[in-house]
Amino acid sequence: MKIHKQKICIIGLGYIGLPAAAMFASNGHKVIGVDINHKVIDALEKGEVIIEEPYLKNMVEQEVILGNLIASKKPQVADAFIIAVPTPLTKDKKADMSLVKKATESIVPYLRKGNIVVLESTSPTGTVKNLIIPILKKRGLKIGEELYVGYCPERVLPGQILFELVNNNRIIGGVNKKSAEKIKDLYQTFVKGEIYLTYTTTAEMCKLVENTYRDVNIAFVNELSKICENIGVDIWEVIKLCNKHPRINIHQPGPGVGGHCLAVDPWFIVEKNPELARIIKLARETNDSMPQFIFNKIEKILKNIKGIKKVTILGITYKANIDDTRESPIINLIKLLEEQNYKITVVDPYVKEFRYKVENVAEAAKDSDLLVLAVNHKDFKDLDFDLIAKKMRNKIILDTRNYFNKNIIENKGFKYYLLGKANE
Ligand SMILES: NC(=O)c1ccc[n+]([C@@H]2O[C@H](COP(=O)([O-])OP(=O)(O)OC[C@H]3O[C@@H](n4cnc5c(N)ncnc54)[C@H](O)[C@@H]3O)[C@@H](O)[C@H]2O)c1
Repeated sequence: MKIHKQKICIIGLGYIGLPAAAMFASNGHKVIGVDINHKVIDALEKGEVIIEEPYLKNMVEQEVILGNLIASKKPQVADAFIIAVPTPLTKDKKADMSLVKKATESIVPYLRKGNIVVLESTSPTGTVKNLIIPILKKRGLKIGEELYVGYCPERVLPGQILFELVNNNRIIGGVNKKSAEKIKDLYQTFVKGEIYLTYTTTAEMCKLVENTYRDVNIAFVNELSKICENIGVDIWEVIKLCNKHPRINIHQPGPGVGGHCLAVDPWFIVEKNPELARIIKLARETNDSMPQFIFNKIEKILKNIKGIKKVTILGITYKANIDDTRESPIINLIKLLEEQNYKITVVDPYVKEFRYKVENVAEAAKDSDLLVLAVNHKDFKDLDFDLIAKKMRNKIILDTRNYFNKNIIENKGFKYYLLGKANE
């Protein structure tokens, strides 16, 4: 019989939990993957996955065949429990912790002396202390002495999760030093990056600060792109020149910020510190205003076209080369276009289904008045602009990412507009 290092129960098998489950399984552990979504479990039982992530499918398939990764609807007795369930935003921009609460409650009957419990879900500060611990205490084990508890935020980048799981540096926050060390031993079975130990609330804050840092920086450059349009300066040239300064690193503007992290996590800081988190809140609002800004630009570009206007949107995910549309600002842009009765077609090779989806760009662009490059998927880099030009009713392109080559496009007879540069 195969001897596994430890038995690990991973609760929540999404973008974070499933790669972690496969990684632990391929590093000598027996992993029980638990999910409440029967589609996830049915797929995993067959060694299949329902999310797109490079190399994940093969890894999962192999570990399921080897018997190292087993799907289950319920937790089981194990050595360690890792919680990786979603922490979405409520309508009033608060963290919805109900799934973390349910997931934690679900493991309580299976806890034994010496177990490890790790929260990986991005959570407001104080979650381990004020939400997780009171639930775990119901088992009657001494926290930090008989049950080791901590928070280990995930920093992986979708699209390269399996590489980053191994190579990124990690922070582990324990309820005490012993807990942090126990959790470090567990992750060190595959992590090659540095592992830094701290306490739970600090680790929780680190994760929120990292994402907020990026959101605020993007808001800064999005605001600058609006200002540059107003004063007739090209933001992209400004960024290029400013970034020649040795201590300046301006981010890239775009049609907004989406995803399950950057568009959500800063609100967890605002929620707990409404009076103090002023820049953070304004940054969120600035990034959320970008779909409306792009929509207004589209309206100006197409103002002389009579009748129903058709817009073709290239890309609807929240970032390039992935299938994730959660909190995507492009979806908000599409809603604005719908409200004004635009005819819409969408092309996104990464997204399986979406209303208006057409498989290829030339077909989608048929009779279109405007092509909007919304997401800089690599698939859009070398489009056949001769064919697209023949299909479109009006040859106009709006590039929200500075992705296309203006000269090439203008040589094909298109009018080219760019976010962060005034319409001429
Ligand atoms: N996706 C990312 O890039 C990323 C990066 C860093 C951190 N995070 C954080 O990781 C957490 C998980 O995110 P995700 O992207 O993996 O979410 P996800 O939606 O892809 O997957 C979560 C899974 O948890 C399952 N689930 C929900 N409640 C459950 C329960 N009580 N028991 C068992 N399973 C349950 C869902 O069915 C789903 O399959 C979130 O807090 C997120 O903020 C995500």
